[in-house]
Amino acid sequence: MTEHVTIWDRSIRLFHWGLAASVAGCLLTGFLGFPGAFDVHLWLGTLTLGLLAFRLVWGLVGSRHGRFRSFLYGPAAIAAHLAGIRDGRPARYPGHPPAGAAMVFVLLAAVLTMAATGLVALGGIEKLGPLATRIDFDTGRAAAEIHAFLAWGLLVLVAGHVAGVLVESRLTAENLARTMIDGRKRVAPDGGPEWAMDDDAPRVRLPGAALLGGFAIAAAFATLTLYRAPAAGLAPDSIAGTPYAEACGECHFALPPSLLPAETWRTMMATLDDHFGENASLMPSTENRITTFLVNGAADHWDVKAAHLFDAPAPDAPLSVTATRRWRHLHHDIPKARFKDPKIGAETNCGACHADASRGLFSLRDIHIPETDR
Ligand code: HEC
Ligand code: HEC
Repeated sequence: MTEHVTIWDRSIRLFHWGLAASVAGCLLTGFLGFPGAFDVHLWLGTLTLGLLAFRLVWGLVGSRHGRFRSFLYGPAAIAAHLAGIRDGRPARYPGHPPAGAAMVFVLLAAVLTMAATGLVALGGIEKLGPLATRIDFDTGRAAAEIHAFLAWGLLVLVAGHVAGVLVESRLTAENLARTMIDGRKRVAPDGGPEWAMDDDAPRVRLPGAALLGGFAIAAAFATLTLYRAPAAGLAPDSIAGTPYAEACGECHFALPPSLLPAETWRTMMATLDDHFGENASLMPSTENRITTFLVNGAADHWDVKAAHLFDAPAPDAPLSVTATRRWRHLHHDIPKARFKDPKIGAETNCGACHADASRGLFSLRDIHIPETDR
């Protein structure tokens, strides 16, 4: 008769499949990267962080085989276990076997690093989340690069983890993926290694599933409050209603000053009599006020994403944002004719698609291209 014992408690199993799903979702939305996917990415990323927080607590105070101490093996044990796999007869362990245990630690560390670099990138680049006011753009960009690079590493690790489970399952004739569903493992018929029966497990004082739920709810709450909050580090609330918006918004959308460097604004203001083929001259006093406004809000002084993107002027149109290679590249998916839509009008009408354009933010979360009527 084959006897079974419960190895993985319910909250560990919920955690495991929850993490698998949220990490898979993060990878998918991260690699797809379209505007709507970014919101889902933030939700799932925060959920992942909540799940990790639970796991760290559970690794210290949870049930017997979930505790980190119970599967902390040294290099010798890992080597012996791998040698067993090589010979086709790995030793059976009630909890994580040494090589699998090492993979668990590496995976947890990788996902934790992904979450951390994600938060730093979000704070520095988008000026959103808990680190919004503490991280500058360049730090955020560096974190984003690590984040993107590690995403590939994580894909490789996940593939290694799945392959390891398949191999180990075959060699020990026990479906390990299933044991993560019902929590039960077979006790070896020949007695096998000393396995803890349920009753021997140390008493757990905390209700695991409730704790897991608590962390997940906290993560959801954090997403709602922290990411819905207005982004930090922005130029004054809005340029709507300022003398600048009134004078310069007459012919086209008044671009937020942080899009161009101060030097470019000065040149533009000095050449208003021939402004892209139009005469946009102003009274000298108005011109001075607006120049000051533009120079103070220029890209040199603000750390938002859009202030860092368009700093390489197009050679044939040095005063234009939409002529820069960066702008053209960011919008190359949108057909030219789409900008002619009555609801948009022109490429310079940033506010038609970027709800936060007049605040200079251009968040990936605030892009809504108007539907065509035609
Ligand atoms: C008489 C109409 C008119 C007025 C007033 C006007 N502009 Fe323009 N502006 C244009 C035209 C036309 C273009 C080029 C076509 C386009 O890109 O829409 C342009 C383009 C621009 C661009 C480049 C947009 C791009 O393609 O990236 C900037 C920046 C700009 N204007 C700033 C200003 C500022 C600052 C003022 C106020 C001092 C101002 N404009 C007032 C007509 C005007
Ligand atoms: C027709 C709608 C539309 C208009 C008009 C438009 N954009 Fe965009 N913009 C988009 C879309 C869609 C994206 C997202 C591209 C992508 O998938 O990465 C985008 C991306 C961007 C981004 C990058 C956001 C990020 O984090 O990757 C910036 C910055 C930006 N636009 C600035 C501007 C500026 C400045 C203007 C006006 C001069 C403008 N856009 C006009 C639709 C528009």
